[in-house]
Amino acid sequence: MITDDIEMCINALTQGELVAFPTETVYGLGARADFPSAIAKIFKLKGRPTDHPLIMHCASIDVALAISPYVPDYAKKLASEFWPGPMTLIFKRGANDAICDEAVGGNDSVAIRVPSNEIARELLSSCTFFVAAPSANKFSKVSSTTSAHVQEQFDDELIILDGEQSSYGLESTIISCIDETPAILRTGAITKNEIQNILGVEVEDKSTSSEIKVSGNKQIHYSPNIPLFLVDNDEQISSFTNFDTQECAYIGGRETQLEFKFPLVVLNYELYAHELYDFFHRAQDQGCKAIFAVPPEAQGIGIAINDRLKKASSQWEKNGG
Ligand code: TXA
Ligand code: MG
Repeated sequence: MITDDIEMCINALTQGELVAFPTETVYGLGARADFPSAIAKIFKLKGRPTDHPLIMHCASIDVALAISPYVPDYAKKLASEFWPGPMTLIFKRGANDAICDEAVGGNDSVAIRVPSNEIARELLSSCTFFVAAPSANKFSKVSSTTSAHVQEQFDDELIILDGEQSSYGLESTIISCIDETPAILRTGAITKNEIQNILGVEVEDKSTSSEIKVSGNKQIHYSPNIPLFLVDNDEQISSFTNFDTQECAYIGGRETQLEFKFPLVVLNYELYAHELYDFFHRAQDQGCKAIFAVPPEAQGIGIAINDRLKKASSQWEKNGG
């Protein structure tokens, strides 16, 4: 059920129900973080392994930084620079009744984010608890950037707070603040360069390291239900002889001379990120047989787009040519 009744959503969350809500990155599937029974509903509905921790959300930067007694100074700097916004910080976990063990998947760390989306802020600022929320999609599938994407994936009972299409369109940058220097665990709109510029220290990028327990690190993730192939140009697409491009979708920063059922040319990287998941959802819905994507250069948000494209395409072997 899609609604714009915020009061009803606050009441539902308070009573331990799930509420999906918009954020500037992707839509979240929220539950109060101090109710194990509410948290259990998230894992069940998403089909997510219960040892995969959730991100806590709140409206206040001060409240966010008080989530753990182990917040290093560099994290405070990052918070004042990038919050509210598309950044998640991970801290060593201290005793805190506001967060049940289930919400952090039994881990000894806790992830927290202060979103900038106005509707999310309105919702969160009325909650007297942290809202634990993974992306509002089935486990390992494409995240949702509109309320319609959420509704398509879940049954009609789920309360979905309506909002605009997520402005960034990719999940938050996740930064571990557990060691003496920060490490990036998931790339996003806030880049390693920006973080290094603010902190003046070298930041490690562990986003591709498989030892890290971030489910977004699993090789198969963000996956459309149809094959996705990463290509450089039209010539390469033509070598996929098993597919008729007139039955396929295309996304890229430049025009294609081939005829596609659903072509999308994105003029800059911000737009590429903004449109990517909606494009995946629409290509699936329109019954496209495959998606061909020309990745952007690995610069700025292009780095995170490349990461998502790589993971989303990793299960599809080149099938032709
Ligand atoms: O933009 C976002 O971050 C969105 C919106 C809704 O805030 N949320 C999101 O949540 O992408 P999710 O659960 O789909 O992805 C969060 C990732 C997961 O891979 C999870 O394993 C990891 O963050 N994570 C959460 N808490 C963690 C922790 N304490 N230590 C390590 N990884 C953690
Ligand atoms: Mg997710």
